[in-house]
Amino acid sequence: MEELKLRVAKLSPAAEGVVVLDLRGEANQVLPSFQPGAHIELRLPIGVPRCYSLCGEPTDGDRYHVAVALAEQSRGGSSYIHRTLAAGDTLLTSPPRNNFPLVEEAASYQFIAGGIGITPIITMVRWCEQRGRAWRLLYLLRSRRNAAFLSEIETFGDKVNLHFDDEAGHLFDVESFLRGVRSDTHIYCCGPSALMEAVEKSTADRLPGHVHFEWFTQRDIAGARNESFTVVLARSGREITVAPNQSILEALEAEGINVSFSCREGLCATCETAVLAGTPEHRDQILTPAERDAGKTMMICVSRAASDSITLDL
Ligand code: FES
Repeated sequence: MEELKLRVAKLSPAAEGVVVLDLRGEANQVLPSFQPGAHIELRLPIGVPRCYSLCGEPTDGDRYHVAVALAEQSRGGSSYIHRTLAAGDTLLTSPPRNNFPLVEEAASYQFIAGGIGITPIITMVRWCEQRGRAWRLLYLLRSRRNAAFLSEIETFGDKVNLHFDDEAGHLFDVESFLRGVRSDTHIYCCGPSALMEAVEKSTADRLPGHVHFEWFTQRDIAGARNESFTVVLARSGREITVAPNQSILEALEAEGINVSFSCREGLCATCETAVLAGTPEHRDQILTPAERDAGKTMMICVSRAASDSITLDL
């Protein structure tokens, strides 16, 4: 799998509990370019790959910036970055990938960021600002002290709607807010699951392809069935049973079959596999509604089969 070897040039606090990593390649190395919304996956020495949005300038060809919030229930990744990682350390990363691309020809943009969800959004805001595009940002936080990029964001004046729960004394009413957003506006949202789900619910009747999400945690699927099913590997004809509470990826690994993967959470698309027959039950955070409905491809690290059998291009 393609990898970049990057040196941690600097770790800078961006807010309480948020640190920005300045990652550099070898001297004079030009790093792969990226577009707003892109992320890289850090392959940490503790064996926990984690995806982080690139929040620096895409035109800075010699460095990447990622902002990392210390998770309250860290599974190891953010805790390692905050407590162990130091300037001078070397990290392996993926090249930039983008599951959250900006539609460049949109009439207007409404960005909605919750907490550290600002990291993919800030590059989109800068992109719009540099091109004189119509945009607005809703930035929701528990407290002002946790707000990364706040001083930069405040320079955008009334294009920005800031809400701090502790100052307001209540949560923000996303549903009412969205009723005031024009129907042809493209909405981009990144933040905690509760915010994303509220935006998803409030925008269900909007134009197809106009609401975009970047998930960084695996979503619970209400009503999902965790039953056993059969995977047919089209190239060999082998049939493998996937047990309840086992992923397709795990079932393949148990049979000694190697397939590409990285995040194992339906977030990176490394394990995307073509579906030749059967019906997938999608649990990833990458495919668009149209791609889900088409059922031609699936992320085998999390998604399962809604049919008794599913045939994959493996
Ligand atoms: S391994 Fe990342 S989506 Fe499956």
